[in-house]
Amino acid sequence: MSLHVAIIMDGNGRWAQRRGMPRSVGHIHGAKAVNGIVEAAADSGIRTLTLYAFSSDNWGRPNIEVEALMRLLQRYLTTETRQCIEKSIRINVIGRRDRLRQSLVRAIEQSERLTAGCSRMHLRIAIDYSSQHSILEAVRRAPRDGGLSVEEFEGLLAHVDHSVPDTGAVDLLIRTGGEQRLSDFLLWDCAYAELYFTDRLWPDFGEPELQAALKLITVYRRSPMLGLADLRRIDVCAPGVITATTAQGSKPAARSRWIASSNESARIAWFASSSTRRTLSRPKPASSAALSTEL
Ligand code: FPP
Repeated sequence: MSLHVAIIMDGNGRWAQRRGMPRSVGHIHGAKAVNGIVEAAADSGIRTLTLYAFSSDNWGRPNIEVEALMRLLQRYLTTETRQCIEKSIRINVIGRRDRLRQSLVRAIEQSERLTAGCSRMHLRIAIDYSSQHSILEAVRRAPRDGGLSVEEFEGLLAHVDHSVPDTGAVDLLIRTGGEQRLSDFLLWDCAYAELYFTDRLWPDFGEPELQAALKLITVYRRSPMLGLADLRRIDVCAPGVITATTAQGSKPAARSRWIASSNESARIAWFASSSTRRTLSRPKPASSAALSTEL
């Protein structure tokens, strides 16, 4: 699956507070969730994974929390680089570096240098990142004659962001923690991204949740095959249960419920709201347990 997936990892603070612990403990558990997701993403064949670890707005948090996050990020880079080399994962930290402490900048540069030859997956970690800042900065550096192509602008953006060039657009943006907004993250890159929002708090986001989110993009990519060429919108109600909204001619959008098994090679059934049933046979039949008939 040659996808670029980006994640806004929200909910660490609430996760800790609900357990009567300081917010920084939530970030520690958030870092553990990062390990699990990086592994699961690489195993799923994701080409690029971009994680929003520290937004430029996050400087406004209490000093003690900023300090804890900076230490955690530096520790992650110094301890996980070896693992990444073993798994052939290339690390790239995007965002501003002029406001980061020198020891963190050195850790970033070392991780990037040591993993530069890795090719299985590209892991981008956004630190002191703000899309608006990057876009403005790229515009400031653009030639004054106005003759700038999209590719040239993206080259400038990559340069401003310290990003590996030609990373490609985001296919799927995931946000945990219940909020439904982009928070100044990859605004240019997400122009055509599918958006997936979940109430799950980041420390509780694991492989099954990633697979549920990936199903969204799988459905979109397969939609013409499923007879959903006029697909307008998909909502994932629960892992494996997906509601598709289609526009039929000039009529208002009709809602259809589409239910897929978690098995990639499974039979896929689509139940239209008119109760017309369409079944698509895949090479391997699904086990009956894999297909839900909830309607
Ligand atoms: C937002 O949750 C999360 C952050 C500001 C930090 C994200 C950092 C990590 C997941 C850990 C370190 C990252 C890496 C790559 C090792 P929040 O604290 O705002 O949650 P809240 O909305 O519940 O307050």
